[in-house]
Amino acid sequence: MRKLGWSDVTPKPLWLNRRQLIAGGAAVLATPAMARIEAAPSRFSTDLAPNTLEEITSYNNFYEFGTGKEDPARYAGGLTTDPWSIVIDGLVERPGTYDLADVVKDRPLEERIYRFRCVEAWSMVIPWIGFELAGLLNRVGVQPSAKFVAFETLVRPEEMPGQSSPFIEWPYREGLRLDEAMHPLTILATGLYGEEMPKQNGAPIRLVVPWKYGFKSIKSIVRITLTDTMPATTWNMLQPQEYGFYANVNPQVDHPRWSQASERRVGSGIFAGRENTLMFNGYGSEVAALYNGQDLAVDY
Ligand code: MTE
Repeated sequence: MRKLGWSDVTPKPLWLNRRQLIAGGAAVLATPAMARIEAAPSRFSTDLAPNTLEEITSYNNFYEFGTGKEDPARYAGGLTTDPWSIVIDGLVERPGTYDLADVVKDRPLEERIYRFRCVEAWSMVIPWIGFELAGLLNRVGVQPSAKFVAFETLVRPEEMPGQSSPFIEWPYREGLRLDEAMHPLTILATGLYGEEMPKQNGAPIRLVVPWKYGFKSIKSIVRITLTDTMPATTWNMLQPQEYGFYANVNPQVDHPRWSQASERRVGSGIFAGRENTLMFNGYGSEVAALYNGQDLAVDY
């Protein structure tokens, strides 16, 4: 039986909150702001109710636009996302600079409603639109010696005001082991809530790895490099004793400055209480085998 996506079951006015309805007026109800993206539902989607579009687009981490949670919504509008291209290089058969349209071409788009757990102990449920990274990697041809995939975000200080602060060594970088990158849960997302990716969420294309802390899910990607050595990653470079390369969601391994045992669902209200954090953010049955034989307290 075909699994229903959120859009099959939820009339748009229900997930737009009151403020958006008031701000947008009747026009919101009558005409969608952007072209809707057709995407198939996925067996990997959670049945949990997604956060509202307002929550997902107004409480963000995107340090290229500042360190405040509201800074991305305030400043990302100035980012030029068209034209956009991605350099795919390193240990691949067909390296090159690929236009975004070419990267997305022939990729079957799916809606993936994923739990999203930030290392800061808040969480959301987000209806991403995207495609499996594995499909793209197979298309460019991974050489047998490749063991890791490195990702980089755009550097453009004139449009990204946070990049004038040197506290991060730009570009923002992330990485995955090749088997993590090839896992079917790992997607490149080009939209959410059935529409193009909002700029504050990492337009036009970002990574989403739902069993890892949110900082692994790098935004606005311009480079993907296949390599045989573990790549340098932004938060690990900044604070190696606090942020490891793996960053798997793990309620048993606390951050040195706070507990990871529970989390606050954004929008749940101050009286709602906290929820227990799940090992691998609830995706253990899919991904635990990737870490057989690894001590996750050491490989944190
Ligand atoms: N990617 C880039 N380029 N820059 C960033 O600052 N922040 C990360 C991740 N990807 C970040 C990034 C962190 S810490 C989190 S929690 C998520 O993006 C937040 O994604 P969201 O704003 O879409 O919820």
